[in-house]
Amino acid sequence: MRNNRRLLGWLDERTGLKKIWETLFARKIPESKGSVAWFYTLGSACLFVFVVQVITGVLLAMNYVPSPDHAYDSVRFIDKQVFLGHFLRGLHKWGATFMVVVVLLHMLRVYFMGAYKYPREVTWMMGVVILLLVMAFSFTGYLLPWDQKAYWATAVGANIAGQTPVVGSHVAKILKGGEEMGVATLTRFYALHVLVLPILTALLVGIHLFLVVWHGISEPPEKTNRQIESN
Ligand code: HEM
Repeated sequence: MRNNRRLLGWLDERTGLKKIWETLFARKIPESKGSVAWFYTLGSACLFVFVVQVITGVLLAMNYVPSPDHAYDSVRFIDKQVFLGHFLRGLHKWGATFMVVVVLLHMLRVYFMGAYKYPREVTWMMGVVILLLVMAFSFTGYLLPWDQKAYWATAVGANIAGQTPVVGSHVAKILKGGEEMGVATLTRFYALHVLVLPILTALLVGIHLFLVVWHGISEPPEKTNRQIESN
């Protein structure tokens, strides 16, 4: 115990670890009025689910093969043969749904508490882009098992994008990697799902959290004198 404390003290002197810990994790949030304080944990819940998605995603990628000939079999292999593979897939799949739900709940709490207003507009805008990235994760991830449901759902999604006026046909072609869905589509979606989107999301979440710490957390809105009088 004393040795641990000495080691931490040694590290703290050289890295400022304590200050970083206090700034990031031991921040003060507005005092709890009833259950208000619970709403402030939704951002951390988003972060937790994102980390779970990254960890389970990396473990799944170790056995997944992104080619139309092998993708479906590799997913079945994960389900049936890999140790805890079925559980891992379930966690990643449910995590994806849960991520959309908690991000939307977090967004609602920010909106209803007016926390998007000055000076937190950029934090809000970063959040909107993160929400779009979360949607893109769902869209690209859905295709990866390469079964009938995945194939046709993506075909429908790409066709909907194809209906956009003027740029539609180009967007559909870029998404599919050509005129038809095939090897290029799967490779493209895989690269987006495991490389581009995670890097972009991690970067934006980093900036988002930096801004949250920079501005400090907003106070819950107070009742105005008019509202108090009319009650
Ligand atoms: C992966 C997604 C996200 C993560 C990890 C995340 C994380 C966080 C955390 C930890 C906080 C501080 C605690 C809290 O208020 O709950 C926060 C605050 C905030 N977030 Fe997010 N967030 C995400 C998505 C979003 C989205 C989609 C929006 C809105 C479009 C948003 C807008 C904001 C704003 C404006 C604040 C400041 C709130 C205040 O000062 O009271 N965030 N976020």
